[in-house]
Amino acid sequence: MAVGIFDSGLGGLTVLDAVAGKLPDVPLYYYADSAHAPYGVRTMDDVHGLTKTAVASMWEAGCDLVILACNTASAAALRRMQEAGVPKGKRVLGVFVPMIEALTERQWGDNSPPREVAVKDVALFATPATVASRAFQRELAFRAIGVDVEAQACGGVVDAIEDGDMILTEALVRSHVDALKRKMPKPDAAILGCTHYPLMHDAFQAALGEDVKVFSQADLVADSLSDYLERHPDMIGDADPAFVTSGDPKRVSDRATQFLRRQIIFQSA
Ligand code: DGL
Repeated sequence: MAVGIFDSGLGGLTVLDAVAGKLPDVPLYYYADSAHAPYGVRTMDDVHGLTKTAVASMWEAGCDLVILACNTASAAALRRMQEAGVPKGKRVLGVFVPMIEALTERQWGDNSPPREVAVKDVALFATPATVASRAFQRELAFRAIGVDVEAQACGGVVDAIEDGDMILTEALVRSHVDALKRKMPKPDAAILGCTHYPLMHDAFQAALGEDVKVFSQADLVADSLSDYLERHPDMIGDADPAFVTSGDPKRVSDRATQFLRRQIIFQSA
């Protein structure tokens, strides 16, 4: 029995960790498409094709519910997959909506018309593909009016984190925040719209200043999943809990263990 968590690579482990902390009794099946990561520099069609294939294999393995714990996949593939229809008894959900519901102070599934909200100027930090998709702005427009979003494509940050180069990562975070501030000097809130970025939460907060509310996606997704499973307890499928990857399991296990600071053993997808 397990809920599926999908990511292009290791970043989704931040979501997995938050879910495991919030829902310790829910077994998890994590799929890292490491052979094709990073997704953030790929075209929309490419990300859609890769996500569709990986999610189909997770459904096949027995997951009934798959969370796309990857903003780039959520941006490029989720709506297309849902509109094309999913197999009977299967669901796929993304990470944007819980974040936007928190930002716009909405309860899960509140589909009332868009309204004015407390935040006015929002900084979005995400991969180049997520920024290019404008999916965040589209989902936000369904729920809020009068919010100005300035998006900063954070080239290089995912690679620097995956390489474990924290000095370079911090320098890149500072330079992306500076670039954002040139376009929007005083954001009220910042969204870390990539699963890798919560690892750099403190660097973003320091560069943005203490008065900017930085939204941490992993906890929001965990809260939203907990809410969802309370209403749909039957969506925990038959998959055996596991960590699987399309990449080299040994290499991915080593990186994951370093990333989460506890031993994680991946097997081949
Ligand atoms: N995990 C992806 C995301 O949240 C970023 C990593 C990648 O570019 O593959 O957008």
